[in-house]
Amino acid sequence: MAGPAGPVERLGMVAAAVDPRQQSATNIATVQMDLRAPWHIGPVEVPTRLVLAPMAGVSVQAFRRQGRRYGAGLVCSEMVSCAGIEHRNERTLGYLRVAADEHPLAIQLFGSDPGAMADAARMVEAVGADIVDLNFGCPVRKVTRTGAGATLLENRELAPRIVESVAEAVDVPVTVKLRRGLENGSRACLDLGPRLVEAGAASLTLHPRSAVQMYTGEADHSLTAELVSLVDVPIVASGDVTSHAKARAVLEATGAAAVMVGRGAQGNPWALREIVDGGRGEPSREEVAAELVLFIREAVRELGERRASSFLKKFYGWYLGRGRFPRPFKQELVQLDSTDEVERRLFAVAPRASVLVEQLEAEVPSGGEMTLELPVSIYGGG
Ligand SMILES: Cc1cc2nc3c(=O)[nH]c(=O)nc-3n(C[C@H](O)[C@H](O)[C@H](O)COP(=O)(O)O)c2cc1C
Repeated sequence: MAGPAGPVERLGMVAAAVDPRQQSATNIATVQMDLRAPWHIGPVEVPTRLVLAPMAGVSVQAFRRQGRRYGAGLVCSEMVSCAGIEHRNERTLGYLRVAADEHPLAIQLFGSDPGAMADAARMVEAVGADIVDLNFGCPVRKVTRTGAGATLLENRELAPRIVESVAEAVDVPVTVKLRRGLENGSRACLDLGPRLVEAGAASLTLHPRSAVQMYTGEADHSLTAELVSLVDVPIVASGDVTSHAKARAVLEATGAAAVMVGRGAQGNPWALREIVDGGRGEPSREEVAAELVLFIREAVRELGERRASSFLKKFYGWYLGRGRFPRPFKQELVQLDSTDEVERRLFAVAPRASVLVEQLEAEVPSGGEMTLELPVSIYGGG
């Protein structure tokens, strides 16, 4: 846990290579953010200041493992339904797959019943998650009308009870991801945040948009700074971080322990590398094709060919966009029936990518997955 560290230590800053006589311990302008400085959530060490965001329909294992390779210190599953776990829904249980090379990993739960959330959290701990994250921010009606997600932001009594119940049920740290509140201008997160910490949350992530805002407008990180000043656990700043410069600016302005990156990493692991290290961002065409092929192969292994082919379509646009490949080529890939055909077309336009794929497959460790007593189809990708 970060504890009551001074601003410089809390932000993972290191002294810049300047004359030490010109430095002042408290003058943030004279120190440099080191996004490679480790930090802690409870006993869990997170090796960098970059967290890969949980994203429904995106954060599959292939995405998380790739994120770790490109510099994310912590990765997170998409939100998993507590009711789905309770009823042993096969597809829901399929989200509880943990590979050996994705630690530290948070698995995120959504629900509104403290007892059921505690039971689901025990299962999440049993499959090997390092952290149980609770979703108190999802703005989607299907979730909010059940009293879960963002609805909890304005339920000052139930929200801390859920945290307390889950924190009592598991030994791993429990964290919470919040939005600012339900309505535009709401400051509910500042009222709720300290209560959640008191109830046992080891860290909070704030995406400072309201639920009604969805993804419009800008994330207001002045709220993140206020939240940092109210609690003594590490805060993760989520929203609109897409570059090293922005990451540093947000960390320095807010005192947050880390930044979380979501949309900026879709089809763009190179953005993660740039955010952590600065410097080189854009990959070559061959690198793009190779990472996409690896991603396709992993998604097929994870989801099975049928589910993977529809899941992957949005990724073709994300990987091949940004002027990397001509638009008609993206459209052509989306029309193809099988992932094998997509792979063949990618190698046709970027022949040297096949060598890179071989190298990547040799480097990326395989297997080592935790399995529960679950139907074989879940692991076989059905
Ligand atoms: C497609 C998509 C799915 C998301 N799913 C989740 C989710 O399952 N759980 C969650 O806490 N946040 C979810 N989010 C919110 C992100 O984690 C993040 O807080 C938000 O996108 C702001 O960060 P960004 O500007 O870096 O994208 C989702 C966002 C997107 C775009």
